[in-house]
Amino acid sequence: SVGPITELHISDSHISLDGYRRPAVVASGTFPGPILKGNKGDQFVVTVVNHLTDPEMLTDTTIHWHGIEQKGFNWADGPAFVTQCPITTGDSFQYNFTVAHQAGTFWYHSHLATQSCDGLRGPFIVYDPHDPHKQLYDVDNDYTVITLAEWYHTLSRHQPIGTPPIPDATVINGLGRYKGGPASDLSVIHVEYGKRYRMRLIAMSCDPTFMFSIDNHDMTIIEVEGTNVKPHTINQIQILPGQRYSFVLNAKQPIDNYWIRATPNLGNSGFEGGINSAILRYRGARKAEPKSTQQRRWNLLRESDLRPLNPVPAPGKPRRGGADVSHYLAMSVDVEALFYINNATFTPPNVPVLLQMLSGARPAQDLLPHGSVIPLPRDAAVEVTLPGGLVAGPHPFHMHGHTFAVVRSAGSNTSNYDNPLWRDTVNIGGEGESVTIRFQTDNPGPWLFHCHIDWHLDLGLAVVFAEDIRGTIQSTRPSEEWTTLCPKYNNVHNGK
Ligand code: C2O
Repeated sequence: SVGPITELHISDSHISLDGYRRPAVVASGTFPGPILKGNKGDQFVVTVVNHLTDPEMLTDTTIHWHGIEQKGFNWADGPAFVTQCPITTGDSFQYNFTVAHQAGTFWYHSHLATQSCDGLRGPFIVYDPHDPHKQLYDVDNDYTVITLAEWYHTLSRHQPIGTPPIPDATVINGLGRYKGGPASDLSVIHVEYGKRYRMRLIAMSCDPTFMFSIDNHDMTIIEVEGTNVKPHTINQIQILPGQRYSFVLNAKQPIDNYWIRATPNLGNSGFEGGINSAILRYRGARKAEPKSTQQRRWNLLRESDLRPLNPVPAPGKPRRGGADVSHYLAMSVDVEALFYINNATFTPPNVPVLLQMLSGARPAQDLLPHGSVIPLPRDAAVEVTLPGGLVAGPHPFHMHGHTFAVVRSAGSNTSNYDNPLWRDTVNIGGEGESVTIRFQTDNPGPWLFHCHIDWHLDLGLAVVFAEDIRGTIQSTRPSEEWTTLCPKYNNVHNGK
């Protein structure tokens, strides 16, 4: 069915999320941008209109629909120089795709250099009218979204290259406070005693990983990045940039205010004066800041404990080496802080990879950028192993075009081929750890696979899987709005 028909107007404006005013790139005037929503099966038609003019930030843009597989719609995926050229100022681009099989918690963001760190991010929710959790849970409210992000007082262009920028504030649903700043408004999540809420948690940060909790309340995880999971109750979530969870919160504590806490692994990790916080407010409670204190016994979410509600086995034979194609992605960093995967640093090419594939002119191994494009055959079970322990972690790796089976989670020494968790953004773990994922090549196109710390992507921590080149040529219906040679952005870092 034809679902939401939307326009997203991208502009620069001065906003104050934490009491400090700065210019930002925003979608339809706000941070986060408006919640885009629809139902499973819907056709989404989103016209992105570029009104950007501030030369201090990039004036071009693109939008990526994070977690949407874009099966059959590779051209609408959004990453600049992979599937399209940037949308230049004054121009617009219509994304038109059907979300046939997915439902759950997703988001959208700029996919041009580090523009999303200057603001351009928003939630994207796909409802399932036949959600299997309706039988499991009598949820009273399915509309609460909690976005976590960091905020900088320095524009991304003026951030140092090679040392991680230090965030000034954590913003929850676009509001927060910074050290030494005013007691500006915090976000309030309203609940009513006795009701059950499905809350959707989205980490939209450019860099920090957050420890998330709500004082005095457990959270029952029911969905991970579009995969429904067996209800699993915890009280603390480590969430990396790009990751999402749905949890059920049972509002049955005494009527009061409770702190919602998101401790970042970078910058100020304290809670004095409402820093790194939002408020859970029961109906009937005073309009005051909470006096609650943190749980004493942590029950941290572990990825390897999560089981899908409807298990889908990992593709390929259930053992090591049982996939059709295996890739080990060795990672390193050089003295200039550029990142390498199998000795190549990803530098955006002038001609988007999709257009290179469609032209059919190059042998697969010559696709640009050299060494960063990995061809994959069609109908193959692909296994990818990523070693942990890379500096400046934890690193979340995000796959475009696929949801993948996590056959071995970081920090776990057992593999699970039978009922693995499927997701699109995974923690590769620390020293001595590694993660192994699998997916089936059933979606022709160029799919970016990258660290979702935007500063690291910008410094080359990415590859492109060129999946089924012949199938791509046969099945892609190019947009009329395409241009074929993008303006030169080579070696642009932090939008400089
Ligand atoms: Cu959320 Cu490549 O992106």
